[in-house]
Amino acid sequence: MTSKTSIKILVVDDDDHISELLTIYFEDQGWQVTRANRASRAIASLKQSRFDTILVDFQLPDGDGLQIIDHIRQRDAKVPIIFMTGHGSIDTAVAAMRAGAFEYLSKPLNMDEVLIKVRNALELTNLRRNLDIAQDELARRNYSQGIIGHSDAMRSVMRSVRIVAGSEVDQIIVTGESGVGKNLVANAIHQASPRQTGPFIEITCTALPDTLLESELFGHERGAFTDARTKKTGLFEAADRGTAFLDEIGDMSLSLQAKLLGFLESRRVRRVGSNREKKVDVRVIAASNRDLFEQVKERSFREDLLYRLNVIEINIPPLRERRQDIPLLAMHFLKIFAEKQQKSVYSYSNDAIEKLMSFSWPGNVRQLRNAIERAVVFSTGEQISADELPQEQESPRFVQAAVKVVPPNKEETFNLASLERECVLRALDHTKGNQSAAAKLLGITRNQIVYKLKKLRMEKSQTEPSIDTFKVRSDH
Ligand SMILES: Nc1ncnc2c1ncn2[C@@H]1O[C@H](COP(=O)(O)OP(=O)(O)OP(=O)(O)O)[C@@H](O)[C@H]1O
Ligand SMILES: [Mg+2]
Repeated sequence: MTSKTSIKILVVDDDDHISELLTIYFEDQGWQVTRANRASRAIASLKQSRFDTILVDFQLPDGDGLQIIDHIRQRDAKVPIIFMTGHGSIDTAVAAMRAGAFEYLSKPLNMDEVLIKVRNALELTNLRRNLDIAQDELARRNYSQGIIGHSDAMRSVMRSVRIVAGSEVDQIIVTGESGVGKNLVANAIHQASPRQTGPFIEITCTALPDTLLESELFGHERGAFTDARTKKTGLFEAADRGTAFLDEIGDMSLSLQAKLLGFLESRRVRRVGSNREKKVDVRVIAASNRDLFEQVKERSFREDLLYRLNVIEINIPPLRERRQDIPLLAMHFLKIFAEKQQKSVYSYSNDAIEKLMSFSWPGNVRQLRNAIERAVVFSTGEQISADELPQEQESPRFVQAAVKVVPPNKEETFNLASLERECVLRALDHTKGNQSAAAKLLGITRNQIVYKLKKLRMEKSQTEPSIDTFKVRSDH
């Protein structure tokens, strides 16, 4: 809701007792009331301020309520209008609703009903304004490097990106749950920095076994180990004068962490199998969706490395803690996907936005993005309706549904990727979404299953229900 003191209600009734009664009730809620006992006065008030809801009596000394609707609509196309009609005049109520009233109330008024309907109307106004703000901001603003958001939290993230980008700081850590935008922020830092002309190279620490990761990071000489037929430039060397992005740093083994720390201190790389060192100029951005302090306690992350990295931390809060970004992001993704899929869908119904704002989004912005991509695929009109959006699902139930959609078509039978997908989903289904237990069933590590899930989320086809909709549980 908008803050209470800023809520303005216009009451138009020539019966002073009724306006007085409504005023007492509304002011008690902390709302500001303006009263008008003539249609002409109501119109004059409309010229002076913008109201969040308007209550109009059907019969006024200088005109009827239906005429007033026109006047109101000319001034404010969207404000909800609630009609008050004399007892039993259903016809007038119907006429009022047809003319675009939001609700009607029959006299004598039941104050509980009045408050419920006015609150609904205020809620609608609030949602519409949110959407309008989102549309305006998108049209007006050039967000830093594609990072969308106007919550205080995101503004502060963007501020940090700008400051850090232009600074000499050469190691940064970006933290936050899966899907909050860590890769996006790392990229933004690079793009906003003088290093933008240099390379941006990223590596996901989860994806590779230890020895391979080491040679990916530091490179190796020919013959350094059995498979090393040619020499290889490592990430840090390749990212010279640019940025190296180490994703999922919490998954790096302890021995490699020690080597990384050595590198951060000396800024020299030595390829595996070589004894020569080379100085490189690289900004290292690390990211993690796990709590590294917790990992330090569990002794799976080196404390000295954490303190080295933690000099500058940019934390991106989960989407559910900055819901005011949802309409803005929703509009942003709608534009992208409508254009991509060449569909003329421009907006959301109010209950669609309300639904999006009510979800807890365990998969954060990535999940929102996928939900909207799918909604655009299925959309039939100019507005996305609430029905076209997915239901908020709990993990086990949803995994079940996802298993069922694996296409039973013949060519698929020999497709390894789809078999793998099915196995992973079945295992998760079996363990009710517990990733560690599912990993055990599959005979792989938890990190590997997390990585596979991420890959699956990226590869899911557009029309299938998204795997992304189930809770990403990074806590077990
Ligand atoms: N503020 C934002 N504005 C626009 N797009 C965003 C924003 N945040 C995230 N996204 C989009 O959401 C998706 C997920 O973001 P990203 O990959 O950066 O998340 P992540 O935090 O790195 O997730 P993970 O921990 O799973 O790697 C991307 O498509 C990204 O472009
Ligand atoms: Mg990422």
